[in-house]
Amino acid sequence: MKQKQCRHMFICVNKKTEKKCCAAFDAENVFEYIKQYVASNREKINQNGRFKVVKTSCLGQCAAGPNIYMTPDNLWYTFSSLEDIDEIIESHVIRGMVVDRLLNKEISDE
Ligand code: FES
Repeated sequence: MKQKQCRHMFICVNKKTEKKCCAAFDAENVFEYIKQYVASNREKINQNGRFKVVKTSCLGQCAAGPNIYMTPDNLWYTFSSLEDIDEIIESHVIRGMVVDRLLNKEISDE
């Protein structure tokens, strides 16, 4: 039986002193929120294959931030609330449906 591909959610928590950065949007706490969400819902989340959330330094798309990059989908999301995060996980990760309203279409591969 072929193993399903592992999906990764990379969340930028980079902090810059002068320019716009993802850390200014509380990204470190959002990362912790996602980790707890995933731990509490592991069985539901893994029904479509393995899933990992990873915090990263700058992803090179600061102006579009705060940024979440999804692989293997090659899609970029932004967010402004924890409700947005819930929607990305419940729709994209669990049901496999892109959250169009949070997609950063200028840098995503569609
Ligand atoms: S600081 Fe997040 S993409 Fe650059």
